[in-house]
Amino acid sequence: MKTWPLSLLFLCSLLSPSIAGDTITPNTPLSDGKTLVSAGGNFELGFFSPGNLKNRYLGIWYKNISTQTVVWVANREAPLTDNTGSLNISSDGNLILSNQAAKVFWSTSSSKASSPVAQLLDTGNFVLKEGNHDSYSLLWQSFDHPCDTLLPGMKLGFNFTTGLDLYLTTWKSTDDPSPGDYSFKLDPYGSPEFFIWKQSTKEYRSGPWNGIQFSGEPEMNSDSYFTFEFFINPHAVYYTYKVVDSSIISRFMLNESMIQRYVWFNSTVGWSIYWSIPKDQCDYYAECGPYGICNPNDSPICNCLYGFSPKSPQDWSLGDGQGGCMRNTRLDCQGDGFVRLTHVKLPDTSNSTVNKSMSLEQCKESCLNNCSCMAYATSNISGGGSACIIWGSDLIDIKQFVDGGQDLYVRLAASELSPTQDVYPEDESNRGKELELPLFELSTIVVATDNFSIANKLGEGGFGTVYKGELEDGQGIAVKRLSRYSLQGADEFKNEDSRFRIIHRDVKASNILLDNDMNPKISDFGVARIFGGDQIDEYTKRVVGTYGYMSPEYAMDGIFSVKSDVFSFGVLVLEIISGKKNRGIYNTDPRLSLLGHVREMIGFMCYQSIFHLLASVFLNIELSGMETVEGRQQLGTAR
Ligand SMILES: *[C@@H]1O[C@H](CO)[C@@H](O)[C@H](O)[C@H]1NC(C)=O
Ligand SMILES: *[C@@H]1O[C@H](CO)[C@@H](O)[C@H](O)[C@H]1NC(C)=O
Ligand SMILES: *[C@@H]1O[C@H](CO)[C@@H](O)[C@H](O)[C@H]1NC(C)=O
Ligand SMILES: *[C@@H]1O[C@H](CO)[C@@H](O)[C@H](O)[C@H]1NC(C)=O
Ligand SMILES: *[C@@H]1O[C@H](CO)[C@@H](O)[C@H](O)[C@H]1NC(C)=O
Ligand SMILES: *[C@@H]1O[C@H](CO)[C@@H](O)[C@H](O)[C@H]1NC(C)=O
Ligand SMILES: *[C@@H]1O[C@H](CO)[C@@H](O)[C@H](O)[C@H]1NC(C)=O
Ligand SMILES: *[C@@H]1O[C@H](CO)[C@@H](O)[C@H](O)[C@H]1NC(C)=O
Ligand SMILES: *[C@@H]1O[C@H](CO)[C@@H](O)[C@H](O)[C@H]1NC(C)=O
Ligand SMILES: *[C@@H]1O[C@H](CO)[C@@H](O)[C@H](O)[C@H]1NC(C)=O
Repeated sequence: MKTWPLSLLFLCSLLSPSIAGDTITPNTPLSDGKTLVSAGGNFELGFFSPGNLKNRYLGIWYKNISTQTVVWVANREAPLTDNTGSLNISSDGNLILSNQAAKVFWSTSSSKASSPVAQLLDTGNFVLKEGNHDSYSLLWQSFDHPCDTLLPGMKLGFNFTTGLDLYLTTWKSTDDPSPGDYSFKLDPYGSPEFFIWKQSTKEYRSGPWNGIQFSGEPEMNSDSYFTFEFFINPHAVYYTYKVVDSSIISRFMLNESMIQRYVWFNSTVGWSIYWSIPKDQCDYYAECGPYGICNPNDSPICNCLYGFSPKSPQDWSLGDGQGGCMRNTRLDCQGDGFVRLTHVKLPDTSNSTVNKSMSLEQCKESCLNNCSCMAYATSNISGGGSACIIWGSDLIDIKQFVDGGQDLYVRLAASELSPTQDVYPEDESNRGKELELPLFELSTIVVATDNFSIANKLGEGGFGTVYKGELEDGQGIAVKRLSRYSLQGADEFKNEDSRFRIIHRDVKASNILLDNDMNPKISDFGVARIFGGDQIDEYTKRVVGTYGYMSPEYAMDGIFSVKSDVFSFGVLVLEIISGKKNRGIYNTDPRLSLLGHVREMIGFMCYQSIFHLLASVFLNIELSGMETVEGRQQLGTAR
């Protein structure tokens, strides 16, 4: 038998620190400097130091990925301060992380086992088990102790049998994995819903599970890349997801106040955010206060529910709706009735009760017969609708959708109820005019975007996902794919790639893109209006756009014309030449906004004519809905 020189053996161990395979046994502990690698090569477990600190933690990260991305940490709150750490299986069969001085930094506390082994699986789960391949008992697993990351196959939720509550908590900072201020947690009672908490304050709410999806998060759903399961029975309630194509590396992470879904791309050697919540201002918890309703497409975004008025009209006029609304007429308990809101995210269900056997009619009766009941709804919309949910306190955190969402019946005094009780969102989509746009076949777009490949995803707008594409002639294009849950009508969509006069209505710095040659292109025609050749102005009840850029007659009276865009452009020019942002309405002192300042300097009449002068000089910006992709830069962001 050949004997290897000792020095060569030594060299081998230096070259491959991960000689331990994927398993730790009582006889083969894992010391700092060595790692476990899962059988398929997906994940690695070992000691690491986050950031520039010397502190040592035991953690799991992706093996295949060049940027070290830690998905789990054992000793989050108790770092080792030197390299003498070792992970052993103790005599009573638990995992134990200690240093040279035998100080214990972390351990598991499972029931006694005689000959357990710990194994890093290809899913990223680190398990402690006893037995052989075919029949073993699971003693402990890292998937039951999530940190800030949810890998495919992990569960988030509550096990009533064991009391195990699985939730995500942020790291304190990028070099400190100890639990930070934010957590993402399921409230499993009544109608289950997820919350992002900042310590003990609610920051975001998914809306209750309605049998098909979370009432306020229609996009936290299955699509062609991910499938999810929401499991609900008397013993447990949890959320879990799978990646359809196992070659896609993806994770779900709580990052400060946001839940983000990342996908890894080898081509860009980086993580891309595929999806993220909260998405808009209305996703922030209780943005419009009790009995307020938030519509991200309205400006301002807050309104009161039908039959209610702002508690503090002054705050509301300044754009702050958080004080909420109060009833126009007090309830008298006896002769009350209900108004039906459609397409809404149901209010916070913390103080609600669910009865699974009640019909909607019985639900209404039971609400009417209880003076503290403020609203009712169907709690399970699947299969035509069943089960009853009743709210026993103020209605908080309601959001308006055009599509999706569900019906909510709100209790009102009889005198508030008009003959037509249904309240629908305003619909402006009946103004369509036939457009002469260049039209592309879907097949052309499919080819240009590689069938809406995830690798071509550029970002996400309010109304859908934007993909990078290339036409046959090499022209780079950006393609917006209207989301099924979009709040945008088909007409608004058509306005975006015309020979009619277009009023953009939302000209601002962040809507102007620069191409490779620094040519400005106006983008985001989502709220634009088409005028016939001889039309001069129009009136709208729904003022959209960005405060601070809107002309006074538009912001106050809803009158808009070509000159509205000229006004906005003037603000933009002022921003460019002054190098300062215009602030908008959130400043109570008008002198703090750029416009207010200019107005003071030169007087009202004069500055309007200056706008027109400047506009005629600068107005050579090409009007084009097609954004050139490469070098997609923004001129700057206002707001
Ligand atoms: C990681 O790399 C291994 C070996 O190269 C490969 O078999 C495996 O499929 C890769 N995993 C992922 C998720 O790309
Ligand atoms: C863990 O294993 C290492 C290496 O064999 C050993 O030096 C250390 O004493 C063990 N620690 C405990 C707590 O058993
Ligand atoms: C809940 O915990 C028990 C006990 O560990 C386990 O048997 C059961 O499978 C768990 N339920 C779910 C849904 O995970
Ligand atoms: C958190 O989110 C921000 C903004 O989306 C991103 O820039 C940052 O890299 C994220 N942090 C981590 C640790 O992924
Ligand atoms: C990404 O690149 C790594 C290293 O080059 C390779 O092991 C891995 O299989 C690649 N993954 C995919 C999905 O192409
Ligand atoms: C639920 O009721 C408690 C006690 O009355 C109250 O403090 C809390 O604000 C209520 N929560 C909601 C969401 O209405
Ligand atoms: C649910 O409603 C049914 C029908 O009204 C009633 O018989 C039952 O007691 C209710 N269940 C609970 C838990 O209140
Ligand atoms: C909702 O209703 C459907 C069909 O009636 C049923 O299969 C499902 O279990 C219900 N979901 C819940 C959470 O009760
Ligand atoms: C009335 O509703 C409240 C809130 O849902 C509940 O706590 C209370 O028990 C109900 N009262 C009766 C008599 O059902
Ligand atoms: C594009 O993808 C969809 C689903 O993601 C698939 O159904 C369709 O067949 C694909 N089309 C082409 C032309 O590959």
